[in-house]
Amino acid sequence: MSKRVALSVLAGIVLASSAGSAPALAAEPIQPIEPAKIMSPGMVELGKKLFFDPRLSKSGFISCNSCHNLSMGGSDNLKTSIGHNWQQGPINAPTVLNSSLNVAQFWDGRALTLQDQAGGPIANPGEMASTHALAISVLQSIPAYVAEFKAVFGRETVTIAEVTQAIAAFEETLVTPNSRFDKWLKGDKGALTNAELEGYELFKDSGCTACHNGSAAGGNTFQKMGVVEPYQSTSPAEGRVAVTKEEADRFNFKVPTLRNVEMTYPYFHDGEAATLTQAVDTMGRIQLGRKFTEAENAKIVAFLKTLTGDQPDFKLPILPPSTDATPRPRPFD
Ligand code: HEC
Ligand code: HEC
Repeated sequence: MSKRVALSVLAGIVLASSAGSAPALAAEPIQPIEPAKIMSPGMVELGKKLFFDPRLSKSGFISCNSCHNLSMGGSDNLKTSIGHNWQQGPINAPTVLNSSLNVAQFWDGRALTLQDQAGGPIANPGEMASTHALAISVLQSIPAYVAEFKAVFGRETVTIAEVTQAIAAFEETLVTPNSRFDKWLKGDKGALTNAELEGYELFKDSGCTACHNGSAAGGNTFQKMGVVEPYQSTSPAEGRVAVTKEEADRFNFKVPTLRNVEMTYPYFHDGEAATLTQAVDTMGRIQLGRKFTEAENAKIVAFLKTLTGDQPDFKLPILPPSTDATPRPRPFD
């Protein structure tokens, strides 16, 4: 093949691959978050109501939003959550933002889907402390809910599978695109300051992206907490071994997303790192055997803060009132 032909073939390939496609993304270990595509708006609206409805709890006081506060990054900003009767929870509440990008739900991945997950807290005695039967009888006693379930699912009776499906559909909309880091990934080179960019280079070069990668910068694998140095914790959580029963999975936890991490303090499954500075220092030491200087740590923290994206933006749902037939809340039992 003559040189000229080879070149034109090459040019053809380049043309074909760039024709009609979006501007090339930088080949980086973290990819931008795309906005949610809403397939069933009616189901999402219903799920939003349920997410905010404290009547799914025995006390009538705790909703999903109590521990996954959408005004505060989808978390409760507590070391461990407060459940029914002010019970101290066993583990830190992860954010619900971008949870649709997770390989599985919970720190140990014991729920495979958002729908599987959503039934758990309602009936967990340490969380909302209701039962599925009681939650259904509450919803079934409220005609506006019955009508809304019928409009979405086409049936007269409300089931827990419909409740969890609607909540999951709402949660799938809780993605946070348009962070400054994503703008940079998409080609806006002015979106990051020099210090933030240096922080990102350090984050990559020191090996953080081995575990914190993909569009959520985490959420896609289970990894050992304490690769090069054991992590000391008083928390009884044992990680993925609780699900797989494989000793090799002891102290493996789902790598948390670093999206919106500025908002989701405190950090780690036991909530023991109060600040990002502390979390970055611990990660460097126990995962990578690396002690960052104060200046390096500050740059990585500056980079992490560029991962804050557009927060959920919607009208607060107004919930249909209870009726004479609605089972009453029992906050102090
Ligand atoms: C009392 C506080 C509390 C309430 C109420 C609560 N959660 Fe959670 N949520 C938690 C905690 C703590 C975890 C982590 C548990 C674990 O990993 O073992 C969690 C985990 C999750 C996760 C998994 C996130 C991830 O990254 O693994 C999702 C999704 C979630 N909750 C959604 C909900 C929904 C939906 C409701 C309402 C039906 C709800 N939560 C009610 C505290 C709460
Ligand atoms: C070997 C895998 C691995 C590497 C490498 C790693 N991490 Fe992590 N990271 C994890 C896991 C697993 C957790 C959750 C551990 C836990 O809480 O038990 C975590 C948690 C975090 C958290 C807390 C997030 C939260 O919401 O609780 C931050 C911040 C963090 N990592 C930043 C970093 C930085 C910065 C680096 C590089 C210096 C790094 N990580 C390297 C696996 C890793």
